[in-house]
Amino acid sequence: MDLKLKNKVAVITGGSVGIGLAVAEALAAEGVHLVLAARGADRVRAEAQRIAQQQGVRTIGVAADVAKAAEVEQIIAATLAEFGGADILINNAGTGSNETIMEAPDDKWQYYWDLHVMAAVRMARGLVPSMRQRGGGVILHNASICAAQPLWYEPIYNTTKAALMMFSKTLSTEVVKDNIRVNTVNPGLILTPDWKNTARKLTAETGGDWEGYLASVAREHAPIKRFGTPEELANFFVFLCSECASYCVGSTYYVDGGMLKTM
Ligand SMILES: NC(=O)c1ccc[n+]([C@@H]2O[C@H](COP(=O)([O-])OP(=O)(O)OC[C@H]3O[C@@H](n4cnc5c(N)ncnc54)[C@H](OP(=O)(O)O)[C@@H]3O)[C@@H](O)[C@H]2O)c1
Repeated sequence: MDLKLKNKVAVITGGSVGIGLAVAEALAAEGVHLVLAARGADRVRAEAQRIAQQQGVRTIGVAADVAKAAEVEQIIAATLAEFGGADILINNAGTGSNETIMEAPDDKWQYYWDLHVMAAVRMARGLVPSMRQRGGGVILHNASICAAQPLWYEPIYNTTKAALMMFSKTLSTEVVKDNIRVNTVNPGLILTPDWKNTARKLTAETGGDWEGYLASVAREHAPIKRFGTPEELANFFVFLCSECASYCVGSTYYVDGGMLKTM
C-alpha cells in the first residue's frame, strides 16, 4: 500500500521517547521529514539525529515546553525556518496526574490545561496557515481512553484530555474546508519506558517483579490481557496521516485492546 507520505513534513510534540518517538520512527520509515519537540534538549536532539541517519530523512529536534506559549512559538519558528511549514501535526506531549478534586490547587489544573489543551490550540494556530498554503494537512491529537472512561486517581488528566478531544472535534469542522483532516486517537495501555519505570518503583520494596505488576494491570483493564506496544499504536497514527484515511474527519479512534467498556 503506497501511503503517499514521502517528503511530507511532520511536527511531533513529545517526540523524544515513548509513543511520540514510535510515531516519529514510523513516519520517517515512510520518508517523512520531522520536527521533534520536547523539553529535554539532549534527548530530543539525539533522537532527531539518530532517525535522520538511520532513515535518510531531514529532522530537527527542538527543546521546548509546549505548556508555555512562548516556547510553542519557538517550535513554530523552527519549523518555518527549516521546512517552510508542515503537512502533519501530532499533538502528543502529555502526562498523567495524581490527585483528588478536593485537594488539587488551581495552579495544577491550569498547568494541565496549558499542557493538554492550550498547546494544541497554539500549535494549530501556528501551523494551520502553512498547511493551507501547502494545499492541506493532517492534525492528530493523542488524548487517552481516560478522556471517555476516567481513572479515579487522575481527575485533572481525565478532564483535560476530554477537553482535548472536544477541541479536536471542533477544530476539524473549522478547517476541513482547507483540506485539513483533524482526528483524535485514544490509546489504552501502551507499554512505554515510563510505565516500566513506574512499575519498577512500585515493586522495589516487594520483590521487584515489575513485569508481573504490569501483567496484572493489563489483566485488570484490557480484555486483550496485555499492553500494546508503541509500534502497534504508531502504525495507526501513520495510517491516519496517509491518504488511505482521506474520509476520516473529526472522529475519535480507540486503540485499547478492548479496554473501553461502552459502545
Ligand atoms: N502510555 C500510555 O499508556 C498512554 C495511554 C493513553 C494516552 N497516552 C498519552 O500519550 C502521550 C504520550 O505518552 P507516553 O506514554 O509516550 O509518554 P512519555 O513516554 O512520558 O513521553 C512523553 C513525551 O512528551 C514530552 N513532554 C512531556 N511534557 C512536555 C512538555 N511540557 N513540553 C514538551 N514536551 C513534553 C517528553 O519529553 P520531555 O520530558 O523531555 O519533555 C516525551 O518526549 C501523552 O499525551 C499521554 O497522555 C499514553
